[in-house]
Amino acid sequence: MLQSALVPAGVEAAEVATLTWVLVAGAAVIWLIVIGTTVYAIRFRPEAHSKRLAQGLILIGGIVFPTLVLAGVLFYGLRLLPDFRAPAHGPRIAVSGERFWWRVRYAADDEKKDWSATFIDTAKNGTTTANEIHLPVNERTEVLLYSPDVIHSFWIPALAGKIDMIPGRVNRLVLEPSKVGVYRGVCAEFCGTSHTRMAFDVIVSSRPDFDRWLAAQSRPARIDSARPGYRSFMANGCAACHAIRGSAAKGQVGPDLTHIGSRRSIGASLLVNNPQNLMRFIAAPDHLKPGIAMPGYDMLSPPELRAIAAWLWSLE
Ligand code: CUA
Repeated sequence: MLQSALVPAGVEAAEVATLTWVLVAGAAVIWLIVIGTTVYAIRFRPEAHSKRLAQGLILIGGIVFPTLVLAGVLFYGLRLLPDFRAPAHGPRIAVSGERFWWRVRYAADDEKKDWSATFIDTAKNGTTTANEIHLPVNERTEVLLYSPDVIHSFWIPALAGKIDMIPGRVNRLVLEPSKVGVYRGVCAEFCGTSHTRMAFDVIVSSRPDFDRWLAAQSRPARIDSARPGYRSFMANGCAACHAIRGSAAKGQVGPDLTHIGSRRSIGASLLVNNPQNLMRFIAAPDHLKPGIAMPGYDMLSPPELRAIAAWLWSLE
């Protein structure tokens, strides 16, 4: 999984990477001039210079040159900003930074016209998932970012710069991935004990693959209520915090688990998604991720834990 701002796979990240290299190259040239002048003054012309020459050096080297360079860099940086905010025509996504995971909502077609800050509280028909974001390649996708309690920062280094998720306000980010692939996103603002264990997977695919994924995610889960894992899930109160569309589980506190079996990882990109890790996570989530809201279920018997994990794994 790629996580490097210097190997860009998106339009915004490419501009940021170019800006980085321009600054590094410029700083290297200036460093060479300063060190070269110093060596020249110490080794080759150690005698005193005239007052006029000294004043001229300070005026040009200390005022004129930095003013021109910094103004040039400022205008270059400002010129990039409109591109970063250019209108988006692709899917619309709202992401909420939770402790310590990501709530992800894809707007339904009828919600796109009311797309604004109020969408986050009023939307009912979109598709909710967690800790995994799918994007179609070469399309500008608008992402609304917010948080219910503490500040997080949403950063997919290979695709774009980072933007804070701030309680009480909605920030906007536009992403235009240019290469199909799997990328890693992270939280880039200290938000609590499991800040470093709050990552997510970003899957950039072709438009048809993306449409297939979104259609599958928007369907309710296929529930087989005869399965022991389903019965244990309901009997142990899991449904109070987790929603599984198509079942009686409607909790909104934790991640939506409707299609958890389809995700690459669990625990916000913490563990590879498989039945063994699902079982581990359910038994001791606070051990794997200190400070999270989910209590451990290690009081359940191993067969019961295994049954819940197997059932969740089947929700593709
Ligand atoms: Cu969320 Cu750091």
